[in-house]
Amino acid sequence: MTQEPPPPGSGAHLTFNAPLSSESAARLVVAATAHAPEVIIDHGCGWGTLLLDILAAVPGARGTGVDVHGPDIERARAAAASRGLADRAGFVEGSSSDLTEAADLLVSIGAFQAFGTVEEALAALADRLHPGGRLLFGLEYWRSLPTAEELALMWEGASIDDCLLLPDLVELIHGAGWRILDLHDSTPTEFDAFEVGHLREREGWLVDHPDHPVRAEVDREWSAWLRGRRRSMGFVTMLLAR
Ligand SMILES: C[S@@+](CC[C@H](N)C(=O)[O-])C[C@H]1O[C@@H](n2cnc3c(N)ncnc32)[C@H](O)[C@@H]1O
Repeated sequence: MTQEPPPPGSGAHLTFNAPLSSESAARLVVAATAHAPEVIIDHGCGWGTLLLDILAAVPGARGTGVDVHGPDIERARAAAASRGLADRAGFVEGSSSDLTEAADLLVSIGAFQAFGTVEEALAALADRLHPGGRLLFGLEYWRSLPTAEELALMWEGASIDDCLLLPDLVELIHGAGWRILDLHDSTPTEFDAFEVGHLREREGWLVDHPDHPVRAEVDREWSAWLRGRRRSMGFVTMLLAR
């Protein structure tokens, strides 16, 4: 048993680094591939599960995932190999801003910040979309506006300007020239599985090391989730077209 606690947020216990269940993702994959995309690019792909799910659903398509986080890219490459998809899936460690290739299907789940603001991301992704293409776009929104107390707890430097209410987000998307073909609103169960999935490694470690100082840090993370984000934060994944 290691004497050092696992690092926070590795996502080792998660399928996606987003509040999405496999069932929800499977439904979105069907919707997002109805136009038979040949080239797929996932900006901020994490460890690549969704891109690999899409490639598995569209035989013959090829895909590229890009992410700045090296360990996630390594995990994605290993997953591609073990799923027999390495010949059609490439994973690049780097920033989305440097990957300007266009695609038939773009994916940006929990990662619009790779391009700046939501508006900047929608513009950058529009520039990277082939005519007739689709964008699977997932991001946080305010289910209801957070109180000052919730904001102070949810994450360092959290601001009311970090998200929009869903009607405002939809108007922003429409104003940017996109139409919304499908929408999945992550459920409380998907959120809870996501949050506890991130905490589980260190919770498990604390069972065997109850007096380690990391306990206070993990306890604060529970508070940031349950007293900070849980009531007001939503996550929506939309299938967009121009
Ligand atoms: C919330 S995670 C979502 C990961 C993945 N889309 C998923 O749903 O499992 C956001 C990801 O965006 C990546 N990211 C942040 N800035 C980026 C950038 N400039 N270029 C590419 N990826 C970036 C992070 O490293 C992280 O893996």
